[in-house]
Amino acid sequence: MKIDQAKFIISAVKEEQYPKNRFPEIALAGRSNVGKSSLINRLIQRRDLARTSSKPGKTQTLNFYEINEKFYFVDVPGYGYAKVSKQERNKWGEMMETYFETRGPLKCIILITDLRHKPTEDDKQMYAYMKYLQLPAIIVATKADKVKRNQRKKHIEQMKTELQVIDSDPLIPFSAVTGEGKDIVWRELKRFL
Ligand code: GTP
Ligand code: MG
Repeated sequence: MKIDQAKFIISAVKEEQYPKNRFPEIALAGRSNVGKSSLINRLIQRRDLARTSSKPGKTQTLNFYEINEKFYFVDVPGYGYAKVSKQERNKWGEMMETYFETRGPLKCIILITDLRHKPTEDDKQMYAYMKYLQLPAIIVATKADKVKRNQRKKHIEQMKTELQVIDSDPLIPFSAVTGEGKDIVWRELKRFL
């Protein structure tokens, strides 16, 4: 995908702030610090458009990025960050439920997991929730640069089995560091744009 335009639009906390022009939206969900913002930056080849950090819990709002005046990437706050208070977690839950369950332009969710590890309980719950809502998913298993070649297949199979990924949802090994998997992610995304 050739990126002619990529622009941060808004950090939204409530529905009234979501963009109103109804472009298709692709949301990125995953546990805190897994690499959601890095994935956006790599896909659109901008080093810093989406804020990344070595400290988990950086993205706390729904961040809308408009791409090519055609669609949005929506960077979603990471789940499973232990240091967040119960009150904050409830707030997160409410915001996410509203977004995932009522947002018409939401076409697909990219669920980002860490290829180095088995999916967490939160990852499993998130995927099950997406399937319950019948939302199409692309699973991107990131940090592939940290997994040895001969361990690859095992980790991919394990991820598929543990998450119970359905056949119509692709699972793509990816690295924001090397760019591996980027073209495949774009190919899959094009179906929704
Ligand atoms: P929150 O917004 O805090 O939930 O984090 P996030 O999911 O947006 O993660 P972010 O993109 O900020 O990345 C977290 C850390 O992981 C950073 O230190 C990144 O440099 C690192 N990282 C992200 N993707 C990769 C990858 O593919 N490979 C490696 N080796 N490191 C990565
Ligand atoms: Mg982030």
